[in-house]
Amino acid sequence: MSSAITDRFTADHHRCDHLLAESERRLAAGDWPAAGEATVGLVAALERHFAVEEATLFPELAQVFRVAENPIEIMVGEHTQMRALLLDLDEAVAARDQPAALGILETLHFLIQQHNCKEEGILHPMADGALPERGTAIATRLTED
Ligand SMILES: [Fe+2]
Ligand SMILES: [Fe+2]
Repeated sequence: MSSAITDRFTADHHRCDHLLAESERRLAAGDWPAAGEATVGLVAALERHFAVEEATLFPELAQVFRVAENPIEIMVGEHTQMRALLLDLDEAVAARDQPAALGILETLHFLIQQHNCKEEGILHPMADGALPERGTAIATRLTED
């Protein structure tokens, strides 16, 4: 069975985890220019990842595998929650509010872990099974311009 979707989306989850850790380090150090840059990178990476899932992976999966509709709805709801936190993070960084920014990152980190665990354990393997011919093409969107 192809595992292109699980492999590539998991690798992108790890990339986002590293960016989050980098943001946390810069914020904890009070290095505002670097923290600003790091959080911009984190927000862009997460937005990109959510967008590929919502615009490509999830609709293609739902089309061939109706059972996936419910878990997809839950995943999209969690993306919405995380996007709200990214807006709060932007504001806290702009205001140079270190405790707020670190608190938001902590919450975000927790939500991402729960979310990615469900995708990597259930939804992405389901997509690999349902879309064996499409995995590589879909995953390529994670890195396309
Ligand atoms: Fe997701
Ligand atoms: Fe994901």
